[in-house]
Amino acid sequence: MTSPRCVMGVTGGIAAAKASSVASMLVKAGVDVHTIMTRAACEFVTPLTFRTISGNPVTVDMFAEPDQWNVKHVSLAQSADVFLVAPATANLIGKVASGIADDMLTTTIMATRAPVIIAPAMNTGMYTNPILQRNIATLAELGYRFVEPECGRLACGDVGQGRMAQPERIVSYVLHVLEARGASDFTGLKVVVNAGPTREAIDPIRFITNRSSGKMGYALAGAAAARGARVMLVSGPVNLPRPEGCQLIPVESAEQMLNATLEAASDADIVIASAAVADYSPARYSPAKIKKAEGGLALELARTADILARLGAQRAAASYPKVLVGFAAETDDLLANAQAKLTSKNLDMIVANKVDPSSSPFGSDTNTVVLIRPVHEPERIGPASKMHIAHAVLDRTLSIYRTNH
Ligand code: CTP
Repeated sequence: MTSPRCVMGVTGGIAAAKASSVASMLVKAGVDVHTIMTRAACEFVTPLTFRTISGNPVTVDMFAEPDQWNVKHVSLAQSADVFLVAPATANLIGKVASGIADDMLTTTIMATRAPVIIAPAMNTGMYTNPILQRNIATLAELGYRFVEPECGRLACGDVGQGRMAQPERIVSYVLHVLEARGASDFTGLKVVVNAGPTREAIDPIRFITNRSSGKMGYALAGAAAARGARVMLVSGPVNLPRPEGCQLIPVESAEQMLNATLEAASDADIVIASAAVADYSPARYSPAKIKKAEGGLALELARTADILARLGAQRAAASYPKVLVGFAAETDDLLANAQAKLTSKNLDMIVANKVDPSSSPFGSDTNTVVLIRPVHEPERIGPASKMHIAHAVLDRTLSIYRTNH
């Protein structure tokens, strides 16, 4: 199988140095990276860096004669599965938005049919300038995708939005777009995903939680956003960056997860419940630290609400969410237990996960699942990356949505 190809444009800014980490992470993920550097980018980082990291020749405007672009820009543009510009200056964004193609990079962007992802990096004043914002809006409307810059202290000393997104965020988005082959089939749909564990407080110091890392839910949210959905991600405490294009609603307890999920779901087309919600919470919270004493300690637990069952019941009465997908983590009788949850919680599909010591899905980047839908034969997916599984789950979810509406 040939590797997917990313043509990566690097423009001149202090973040050009960080772009080498982006290239390196893409290469490690199996992507064939071909770099085009602007003249200004070479002032910040050398072409040799990208050549060494990618193992491919680097095209540099400085050395390219205009008659050479005419040949090379077309071949690079046509060969791209995805086009990334990181960092992208205000100047580059302005040129592309205005249809200006006066160097190798802008000419290649204009010629490509691949999805173009732009990671802006600039001073806050420039980023918030209405001209730049108008250019971004124009490009976004035309289908160009953006990885928003982050807030923080910028190289110029200003504090505000403009710092290029972390390489992990950019790379995760590029991989999602590649995995989806540039599809925008979720455009216009609101998707709510809940993810991660919950924490049930015992006292100000202790809590009860579980082994969920949130990786599967974050992969689903990121994949749906990469395919054009408006995504709300209700997340318990996890150690993961916010997936690109998702609105993150952080929560801690099962009760907070319930309230935030129900609210987000109130006008959602699709709800995917991947959170590992605690089924029990301490019956009484102790505002003071519980001190140790002789003998054991019995902790009384009370049942929490079943969020998914509530949504399933609500769906029977109201018309939302239009599609409801749940997860089932089982140590025994995977299919029978998952099938029972599919029916009792009134779901369209359940993603069954086998948990055993030899193949625990918790914290892993890969997984094997069985997708169970009414009337269909159970379908096994994997072992595969959680990103691949996320796209497979979304493919089935979209076909359910289209069949029902
Ligand atoms: N779920 C939920 N609210 C809960 C418990 C579970 O919304 N209080 C959802 C999970 O997000 C998942 C599905 O229900 O999508 C199944 O969760 P799982 O933990 O596998 O099963 P439970 O329903 O909790 O049943 P049991 O623990 O008995 O297996």
